[in-house]
Amino acid sequence: MDIELRGITKRFGDLVANSGVNLSIKAGEVLGLLGENGAGKSTMMNILSGLYRPDEGEILIDGKPVSFRGPGDAIRAGIGMVHQHFMLVPVFTVAENVVLGVEPTRMLDYLDLRKAREQVREINEEYGLEVDPDELIENLPVGIQQRVEIIKVLFRSASVLIFDEPTAVLTPQEVTEFFKIVRSLRDAGKAIVFITHKLHEIHGIADRISVLRAGKIVGEGLPGKTSDQDLAEMMVGRPVTFEVEKKTFEPGEVLLDIRNLTVLRDDDSVAVDNVTFSVRSGEIVGIAGVQGNGQTALVEALTGLRRVTTGSVTFQGKDITGASVRDRHRMGFAHVPEDRQRAGMITDFTIAENMALNTYYDEPYSHGIVMDWKAVADNSAKYATAFDVRATSIFEAAGHLSGGNQQKMIVARELSRDTKLMIAAQPTRGLDVGSIEYIHKRIVAARDEGDGVLIVSSELDEILALSDRILVMFKGRVVAEFGAGARPANKNDIGLAMAGALA
Ligand SMILES: Nc1ncnc2c1ncn2[C@@H]1O[C@H](COP(=O)(O)OP(=O)(O)O)[C@@H](O)[C@H]1O
Ligand SMILES: [Mg+2]
Repeated sequence: MDIELRGITKRFGDLVANSGVNLSIKAGEVLGLLGENGAGKSTMMNILSGLYRPDEGEILIDGKPVSFRGPGDAIRAGIGMVHQHFMLVPVFTVAENVVLGVEPTRMLDYLDLRKAREQVREINEEYGLEVDPDELIENLPVGIQQRVEIIKVLFRSASVLIFDEPTAVLTPQEVTEFFKIVRSLRDAGKAIVFITHKLHEIHGIADRISVLRAGKIVGEGLPGKTSDQDLAEMMVGRPVTFEVEKKTFEPGEVLLDIRNLTVLRDDDSVAVDNVTFSVRSGEIVGIAGVQGNGQTALVEALTGLRRVTTGSVTFQGKDITGASVRDRHRMGFAHVPEDRQRAGMITDFTIAENMALNTYYDEPYSHGIVMDWKAVADNSAKYATAFDVRATSIFEAAGHLSGGNQQKMIVARELSRDTKLMIAAQPTRGLDVGSIEYIHKRIVAARDEGDGVLIVSSELDEILALSDRILVMFKGRVVAEFGAGARPANKNDIGLAMAGALA
């Protein structure tokens, strides 16, 4: 089954998410759809899978125009989408989930289920999926849940499978397994659309590459032939450098020392389990791990946002286990939080106000009870320029900035003081390649000036590019260490540790 999109345009109010998109998808082929966050990839595929209706343009299947009134129509036409966020019922089995989606309002009966189990087994066999139809979803790792989504789509006889950023939640080994499955689907004659914003992935899996930028197809590429430089330039619209330049590693004194730290989640389950490590001045320690293995609670505990249950944290020899957020700031902590809109900024405040959020109470911005707004504004203007925060004015509401510029604003604020230790969680999540490059440079500059840096990221490539030393967290524990004296960092071993194989 071949599909053609012709002149597809989709608007959300004034925003043009897709503009005159032409694209062909062919049976037996993997089309790699590459583009930055916000480029319009999901919108386009939501149109193809019947979730959205285009404002202009048409979809042709094997040369005939079709019109979808909803996802049901697209599924009946043989088009299935595996979404970024899975839509499975955790307390149901694999087979139950597979049947459920077909007729969501009907009661499941015994016959349906028996048939479904058999079909799940057949699909397993055909594509090497290895999923137990009777297992509960909640007992399955994310990589296997993704396969259940694939089975759901195949169960509905899809000929076209659309994967929206499928690797975002997988370890490197799971990615390899996933690519095998995609190849077997392709070899069985399915048409595949593989969406990603990660350049390196596309070469390994795509037969053809289309690049989307600001809602338009801006170029095509061939895996292995078109260089990453060229692809990145198409994605961003300007040349991009990839290397993160770092001075040689010369760590100094221990700044942050964490001993036997245990931290609980809100529901009293153990998030951080007896963790011990340290961060020295002039080094970047990277914490790798699949999301949900305790990294968030660790950062919260270290920045004073979450209570420590047992264990201790010292900073330059001083016990700070119970110190407040403000105390830590005054000692030279910089914190780039995971959830920038919730914890990093106040969207209704101006850029100037946001940049003074954790300094306004000290000289030179405040003389006792009188704020010196001129000092606040001068400081913001200086750092907004230095950190390339692109805005019409520092008196614009911070919520109006793009994600990348919001993040640069936070990094600017956090590094515009005399800091000693930077704790950055997912510092570049959701940012475009240009902003990532910029923030990485600033983090490395802080380290080269002697700051200690702790980076938590679920992007292994980011951890590898920045870190002098890498710790892997799995189920609340540090299960492995790489680099600087420990075993050399390599992606395969780190991936195994992330999956708990070294625990
Ligand atoms: N339902 C929606 N309502 C309003 N704007 C949307 C909606 N869905 C997407 N957008 C906007 O459309 C643009 C493209 O988004 P999307 O297709 O999700 O990009 P991508 O998948 O490439 O990251 C973005 O600016 C996004 O904010
Ligand atoms: Mg998307």
